[in-house]
Amino acid sequence: MKTKVIMVVCAFLVTNSALAEKEHDGKHGHQMQEETRQLVEMPSKMQQHMMTKMRDHLAAVSEILQSLGQEDLDKAAEIAESRLGMSSMGKHGGGKKGKHDGDKKEEHVCDNKGEKGGGMGKHMPEGMRTIGHGMHEAASRFALRAQEGNTVLAYQALSEVTASCVACHASYRIK
Ligand code: HEC
Repeated sequence: MKTKVIMVVCAFLVTNSALAEKEHDGKHGHQMQEETRQLVEMPSKMQQHMMTKMRDHLAAVSEILQSLGQEDLDKAAEIAESRLGMSSMGKHGGGKKGKHDGDKKEEHVCDNKGEKGGGMGKHMPEGMRTIGHGMHEAASRFALRAQEGNTVLAYQALSEVTASCVACHASYRIK
């Protein structure tokens, strides 16, 4: 009798965990899809640099939204232009000082003319570079609209910035 009960309990547990697993698979089905993103190879130092930039991109978007919520459009514009916009390209240390003191002489990761350290652009496939460039342009457009006080157009441009993040992440990976 006792063994029978134990067997039933065991059977129940096994079935249950099998079901749970199935549910688990279903829920995360999207993430488990076959890898379709293109692998972009680059030296590991460059990978690290790029990921540092990426984390700052996300922080910048967060700070922009915070400034917009406080109706500080000038601050939102300044963050966007200096950390995501066209002026964030090219060499660091020129123009806006302070935030980028850590990597003075380093060139922007997207500067494809860079020979030492930077120059990640030359490792990027054309499509990836285009999306990246589009993001910098949208950020500068956002900055302009925000400075003009045109919040609707500013939000439109900001959504183009985040759409670029999404588009690139959907197509490319570095490992
Ligand atoms: C031109 C392409 C491109 C654009 C544009 C882009 N990213 Fe990325 N990002 C990548 C790639 C590639 C990775 C690495 C993904 C991988 O290998 O799995 C990445 C990784 C990240 C990571 C993870 C960093 C870490 O430490 O793991 C964050 C956060 C991120 N991006 C934020 C953003 C945000 C926010 C934006 C837009 C404002 C953005 N990215 C725009 C290509 C891009």
